[in-house]
Amino acid sequence: MENRSLVTIANHSKERILYLLEMAREFEKKPNRHLLDEKIVATLFFEPSTRTRLSFETAANRLGAKVIGFTDPKVTSSSKGETLKDTIMMVSNYADIIVMRHYLEGAARYASEIAPVPIVNAGDGANQHPSQTMLDLYSIYKTQGTLENLNIYLVGDLKYGRTVHSLLMAMRHFNPTFHFVAPDELKMPEEYKLYCKEHNIKYVEHTDFTEETIADADILYMTRVQRERFTDLMEYERVKDVYILRNKMLEHTRPNLRILHPLPRVNEIAYDVDENEKAYYFQQAQNGLYAREAILCDVLGITLDEVKADTER
Ligand code: CP
Repeated sequence: MENRSLVTIANHSKERILYLLEMAREFEKKPNRHLLDEKIVATLFFEPSTRTRLSFETAANRLGAKVIGFTDPKVTSSSKGETLKDTIMMVSNYADIIVMRHYLEGAARYASEIAPVPIVNAGDGANQHPSQTMLDLYSIYKTQGTLENLNIYLVGDLKYGRTVHSLLMAMRHFNPTFHFVAPDELKMPEEYKLYCKEHNIKYVEHTDFTEETIADADILYMTRVQRERFTDLMEYERVKDVYILRNKMLEHTRPNLRILHPLPRVNEIAYDVDENEKAYYFQQAQNGLYAREAILCDVLGITLDEVKADTER
């Protein structure tokens, strides 16, 4: 049987990405449907989440599915020593699809190889976050009118930030110029820079984060420093407030600039930025609902044509 799991965005073609974005647009027109009335969606969150879990669960509910799952592994039998394999096999008995966030890199890939039902990776350690990437791409497309030829600034924790790793891979189809803005401790890992070289993706690295640095940005993608990934908390304390975007830094930026952030925010975007029309992070999180409705339907075998026909009903 074809494995329809969504583990990484890396193997998605340009056509496939555009297809899913078109499906998300259909769900934005009409979020409430009965396309998944008979389905059960399991959300297994071994790490904390607000947006990813709630938007997947909202998506499932708006599509007519029922939701089971947990938000804290301490209340499950994994706290008694049950393995991930056994947990996945058990939940596969109950649900048609599993949305899983796990602290181990590669956990979603492993689950997809053993589960009889499809797995959606809702974030695996510092590795990948493909559903976030779909909503990021949708947000970029909505705000810029295109995904092609954009100057995209990735700022902050590029070492541990899984959202920037996934976004970088997905953008390979669209001729971006990336600017990696990070302190030495949190630089984009070599494997992703190698990926850029192999796919002819242009990138420039910066350690300064000033008005001048971001003057020609189309997208400013801010990220939080990921405290939970540090083994040395002294190092976290040293770098946690290294870059803070303030409203006055945006005065001479491009009119089309939009500021994205996967959220949660800690200190890296000052609150005075929220009122600026270039701030787009809350709308970006709303776009997560439409992108995740598209992902659930696609993984469960519902086509764009079926979704379009349903829009007209
Ligand atoms: N962007 C994101 O993954 O947010 P949560 O951790 O709240 O799900």
